[in-house]
Amino acid sequence: MDNVYILGIESSCDETSVSIVKNGCEEIATVVLSQMNTHSTYGGVVPEIASRMHVENITIVIEECLKKANMKMEQIDAIAVTYGPGLIGSLLVGVSAATTLSYIYNKPLVPVHHIAGHIYANNLVSKMEFPLIALVVSGGHTDLIYMEDDYKFKKIGGTLDDAVGECYDKVARIIDVPYPGGPLVDKLSYEGKDTYQLPLPLDDNTYNFSFSGIKSAVINLVHNEIQRGNEIRKADIACSFQKRVVDILTKKTMKALKEYNVKNLIIAGGVSANSGIRNKFSELCKNGGIKLTIPHIKYCTDNAAMIACAGYFAYKKGLRAGLDLKAQANTSLF
Ligand code: KG4
Ligand code: ZN
Repeated sequence: MDNVYILGIESSCDETSVSIVKNGCEEIATVVLSQMNTHSTYGGVVPEIASRMHVENITIVIEECLKKANMKMEQIDAIAVTYGPGLIGSLLVGVSAATTLSYIYNKPLVPVHHIAGHIYANNLVSKMEFPLIALVVSGGHTDLIYMEDDYKFKKIGGTLDDAVGECYDKVARIIDVPYPGGPLVDKLSYEGKDTYQLPLPLDDNTYNFSFSGIKSAVINLVHNEIQRGNEIRKADIACSFQKRVVDILTKKTMKALKEYNVKNLIIAGGVSANSGIRNKFSELCKNGGIKLTIPHIKYCTDNAAMIACAGYFAYKKGLRAGLDLKAQANTSLF
């Protein structure tokens, strides 16, 4: 079969990114323009600013990516774009760019769900082996997914309240760690000890997660320490919090691997950059004879290479969108 080149576009939050990937596994070129520095002034992503910056940057990023790949639009087989979920104003910029390119160059338009993208970032590391279990941990999702084959997603568990990344960001705010909270709490955790008695979040027989309890426990702890005039040992809180989160994620995921009898675990989403998660899963999977795949750090957070990878498999399945493709702030993968 001839090689298939997919141009992926991702703009669901605060990264404007374009990538060209060959056959769903070989990255040709990727450009990611992050707005993180701008938003850090406000302590979080400001949706209006994000969409305006996407408008300013999208054509530059498309041109830059083609230049980096030394390719022309005529050589691209299809255009894949994140249509949701995400910030509606941000998504609209990527979808408008993709539909316009599809029309002008007469290329198929392939809609990609953002979480499918995070999952397929793993295909850049090693060919995904089915059936598999995917643990998706991001700013908006915490899902355990069973995949029998390419592009077949079956949810076996998910969060009942906060997503794990969201919880990291909130805990960061409570202990006064600046934006972006998640990576900094991760780093800080290595300077502390597990001295605080935080609860293990939703330790039951299901594959569901709940992180609002541990978040409230951290809020109460900080308030009590302040009232008592005690010092807040941020590094110890970060360490105790990270330990509990990693414990519950590994406990439920390892159980799912056994029950579903799969040999490949993939981890996806921004929080897969977490060193506690990477280290603990590496150790457990090595001992259990499970193949573990985690994206390269730079492809854990939002990028278009993952969208182009997922786009290839969606393209092969015949998934297509028309010029009326709608950006969707909330949309389920299942
Ligand atoms: O996947 P992502 O880039 O955006 C969404 O699709 O939601 O994930 C962003 C989330 C943020 O909540 C961020 O704090 C978290 O991933 N994150 C981390 C780490 N790196 C990013 N959380 C914990 N430890 C990290 N090292
Ligand atoms: Zn994401």
